[in-house]
Amino acid sequence: MTMASLQSKYDAARANLTQVGQEHVLTFWADLDDTAKAALLADLDQVDLKRCAALVEPMVRNRPVLELPHDIQPPEILPAEADAAHAAMYAEALRLGEQAIAKGQVAAFVVAGGQGSRLGYDGPKGAYQVTLVRNAPLFQVFAEALLGIERRYGRRPPWYVMTGPANHEETQAFFTENKYFGLSADDVRFFMQGQMPAFHPDGRIMLASKSRIALSPDGHGGSLRALSVSGALDDMKRRGVEHISYFQVDNPLVRPIDPLFIGLHIMKRSEMSSKAVTKADDKERVGNFCIADGKLMVIEYSDLPDELAVARNADGTRRFDAGSIAIHVLSRAFVERLTSETATLHMPWHRAEKKVPTVNDQGNAIDPDKPNGVKLEMFVFDAIPLAENALVMYTRREEEFSPVKNATGVDSAVTARRDLNRRAARWLASAGVEVPMGEDGEPAATIEISPAFALDAEDLRRQLKSKPAIKAGDSVLLA
Ligand code: UTP
Repeated sequence: MTMASLQSKYDAARANLTQVGQEHVLTFWADLDDTAKAALLADLDQVDLKRCAALVEPMVRNRPVLELPHDIQPPEILPAEADAAHAAMYAEALRLGEQAIAKGQVAAFVVAGGQGSRLGYDGPKGAYQVTLVRNAPLFQVFAEALLGIERRYGRRPPWYVMTGPANHEETQAFFTENKYFGLSADDVRFFMQGQMPAFHPDGRIMLASKSRIALSPDGHGGSLRALSVSGALDDMKRRGVEHISYFQVDNPLVRPIDPLFIGLHIMKRSEMSSKAVTKADDKERVGNFCIADGKLMVIEYSDLPDELAVARNADGTRRFDAGSIAIHVLSRAFVERLTSETATLHMPWHRAEKKVPTVNDQGNAIDPDKPNGVKLEMFVFDAIPLAENALVMYTRREEEFSPVKNATGVDSAVTARRDLNRRAARWLASAGVEVPMGEDGEPAATIEISPAFALDAEDLRRQLKSKPAIKAGDSVLLA
């Protein structure tokens, strides 16, 4: 950037910032060299100042008071597998889902823009190696699921990958280095999500340094707007994609494309459909599906009143038993409607107080030891009450949900690998293969089934030409 253009951009930025009382962002301008000045201006380009200005009073200076809906009821939830009452409906839904996939109307969409701070892995989370025999990374597991879908239904779904500014380039390079895990570059489209600045509790935008704004991703709910502004929605339209199969990068058990789920979404004319699992305990840290004042929505575990969390039905089962696992199908038209410039439908922001490295008034670095800033994020499940005919179906946790969130303990790579191994053993057993079990009740062999080889237990039964003999201590790969 030339000096003259730096100066004119500075003048424009100063005017805009002054209008919204944020001119302190330029406090250290005179101390900066041209590169640092350009970096600060580029950060400012990422910030929607008007949007921020509207949020300062209600969300930053004040802690919003959560207004719980008056009437909270458990929703009706479709079963994971068809019982007698659902047999005909599920058969028809499966046919519709398979047909939509075969016609190329379904795209996979993974959100991978998070910071993964709990896992503490140095790199995009999708590069984290998770499988038992090959140590394949999460992205490979999903890519192979798409290859499995192509094998079964004759059509490879396009894949949209949302990244964040901190991992965008690395993510793309990872796919290139790994030859797209057997997909082609044309099958995969990357785009970056939006960012929000962190705020001082008094409402001022925080600086990360003299020349950088403290920016972070705007939450997985930001994915809907990012689909629109990145041109991904237009790309979907061009390709004839009608249904977007949404999942998160940290769950290696997910079925990125599930024909039955997609078929139910189509059949019920749902704009946004969700999968739920039976909660592990009353206070499990997952969102709760509820009908609140007549609308389906997710109420976070921290917001669900205790008496509802522990409430029981007459037969002793948990009244609010459906936990959200962030697997959805969204209609492309719904995302278009939600994100169009004239849209009046808005998703709320969520406030979190976090430790944000920043600078003091003299420009010296501060590494806080307690929360000093406010971050605002959107959550994807807040789109559910805005959708027509939103539906929820159960899936089995052991079949489809075991996220890698933490470095150790619950929801870590150790539990995800354990669950992948258990599932592989179960599928093999259902295909008539004898799997040795250890005294601890776990499979005594290490088993990996690539989703390119088999997408589910039934698929495995079809795929296995012979029954492998498995001994304790064996390492078995079906790929
Ligand atoms: P999490 O809520 O687990 O957050 O994201 P995270 O950033 O990955 O991890 P922590 O909380 O820092 O440890 C769930 C999913 O949503 C995506 C993540 O990449 C993950 O797939 N996500 C989250 C985004 O894509 N963007 C965001 O802004 C936040």
